[in-house]
Amino acid sequence: MLASLVVTAGMTAQTHTLDINTQKLGAPIPSTMYGIFFEDINYAADGGLYAELVMNRSFEFPNHFAGWDISGKVTLKDDGPFKRNPHYVRLAPSGHTDKYTMIENRGFFGMGVKGGEDYRFSVWARVPDGGKAKLWIDLVDNATMGDDQKLGNASVEVSGKEWKKYTATIRPARTFARAHLRVWGDSKVTTDLEHVSLFPVNTYKGHENGMRRDLAEALEQLKPGVFRFPGGCIVEGTDLATRYQWKNSVGPVENRPLNENRWHYTFTHRYFPDYYQSYGLGFFEFFQLSEEIGAEPLPVLSVGLSCQFQNDITRGKKEDEVHVPIDQLQPYIDDVIDLIEFANGDPAKNQWAKLRADMGHPAPFNLKYVGIGNEQWDYKDNPVFTKRLKIFLDAVRKVHPEIKYIGTTGPDSEGDKFDMLQPKMSELKVDLYDEHFYRNEDWFLKSGNRYDNYKRGKGAPKVFAGEYACHGKGKKWNHFNAALMEAAFMTGLERNADVVEMATYAPLFAHVEGWQWRPDAIWYDNLRSFNSSSYYVQQLYSLNKGTNVVQLTMRGKPVAGNPDQDGLFASAVYDKNTDEIIVKVVNTSDNDQPVSLNLKGMKGKHEGKYTVFHSYDLVAENTFDDPIKVVPMTGKTTFNTPVEDVVVPARTFCMYKIKK
Ligand code: AHR
Repeated sequence: MLASLVVTAGMTAQTHTLDINTQKLGAPIPSTMYGIFFEDINYAADGGLYAELVMNRSFEFPNHFAGWDISGKVTLKDDGPFKRNPHYVRLAPSGHTDKYTMIENRGFFGMGVKGGEDYRFSVWARVPDGGKAKLWIDLVDNATMGDDQKLGNASVEVSGKEWKKYTATIRPARTFARAHLRVWGDSKVTTDLEHVSLFPVNTYKGHENGMRRDLAEALEQLKPGVFRFPGGCIVEGTDLATRYQWKNSVGPVENRPLNENRWHYTFTHRYFPDYYQSYGLGFFEFFQLSEEIGAEPLPVLSVGLSCQFQNDITRGKKEDEVHVPIDQLQPYIDDVIDLIEFANGDPAKNQWAKLRADMGHPAPFNLKYVGIGNEQWDYKDNPVFTKRLKIFLDAVRKVHPEIKYIGTTGPDSEGDKFDMLQPKMSELKVDLYDEHFYRNEDWFLKSGNRYDNYKRGKGAPKVFAGEYACHGKGKKWNHFNAALMEAAFMTGLERNADVVEMATYAPLFAHVEGWQWRPDAIWYDNLRSFNSSSYYVQQLYSLNKGTNVVQLTMRGKPVAGNPDQDGLFASAVYDKNTDEIIVKVVNTSDNDQPVSLNLKGMKGKHEGKYTVFHSYDLVAENTFDDPIKVVPMTGKTTFNTPVEDVVVPARTFCMYKIKK
């Protein structure tokens, strides 16, 4: 018996023998199996992963000075150099030697800056009357009791009537989470400013239009197999005009138009009136990031339906007013085809592929999957979704049969919508369909067998569990027990890797001051971040996904928390790269469970490792103060084979890796 795992309190008498057939390899585990779902919710893009520190840098928010304080003579103009972002500001001399013209940006809940690190200030500027002007740029701490608010400063000299980009580096003397950026106008010369920007130089992989390093590294450390973007509901829009439009998110950042962010107003109890999408983190950056973290990119595009929750045609809204009329779908279909060209096409032959090359990536991104539609559904008397999806599939398959197209079974894990859509996805021969389940503990405990009897084999679409998380009953936030439920459920994903091709926990990111939806995988403020307990479950699966399923049964049945299985869930894989059998066992009961690992086909002693993920406090969670409160612990051990006896403590996820 593994001494390190022996806990006797509350132990049940019965030993559970897990028969693990190490001699026969089962289905290959898809490389995409465990991935990530990104949506600009909870300030995940602007104010989060996207490292830009200035909010409303192009003065295009409906309130053009949102995020800015102004003093002196500042006026808004609208004939700027960037067609799709025409507004800019004119800073005129104040008219008095002791008065100043200045604009000050508050960032997203302030700007997090680190002492001794470099920040790249940039601005498009001109001197409308000709000549030269000097701009002073300060990073400030408005709350200081010190003599000087400045944390660091720089200046730029602007010259001539033509718009040009100017840059300067600022190195703040100390770390501060809520800095503001001040730009002082010249005291004698009028200056025009557009696209005022501040980025850390130290972004992920050093890109100028880059990602916040700690957050991107947290993604990299998940080793995700697939990266779904740009969401969620954001794909659909509250109305068609506000859906995510990828073509607006590529090309020079200065000319990417602003979009509303639906999470600004979706919940009146978590309302964020200054939440917009700059599209600075756009499709090029999503593809680039996918490549850099080693994940298959998975863009999801609109199927011509706005959010069906908010545009209910059974309650008075007219289909052709809120959704795209059937005979007007072509531009939406073109969006899919052009996106595939943008990602994979030949720059010499296609304008979108050429744009990709112009943006710095002549080689293809090797896109293999495209999702069409997010949480869509049909009505009994009107297949609003599938009639559109069919038109899309017929059209896009003709041009790009090499791509795998992903449909959806709607927002529910079961019920009318799901039951209606699942067979239709087979009829339409989608390659995969996207299932969503934000459900409570009971659902997770009862769903261990969910995929055991799914249609499999030739012609059956694969499953993309595209959004899921345990939303605890009365505890809809991150905590250990919710993560444990997810771990238990995921044994069923793993066991059914021949049916489930990919799964992405959702959502990914949340700013502690700007969230609308929880639980989430990774939390952060302006300077710090920590991973939730759910993140660690995802990571345990992803880093230990193996290459093939190995059959694991208890008394001939899959171990999925069934009534006679004492709250146990289990699965096993083989990793041909490391020659290891990896067994995952989750004990969701309140009793410690003695378990015999019967590694059929193995003999003698084998080196290995065990990992234990446990918290005595079921509602414990990681925090900024204690970011490693709920994390897995790993140790080395020797396993007896064919049989090793272990104890899986109550409410614990254990993993055993045994060298073959
Ligand atoms: O993940 C948050 C939201 O949940 C997504 O936008 C949507 O697809 C789902 O309803």
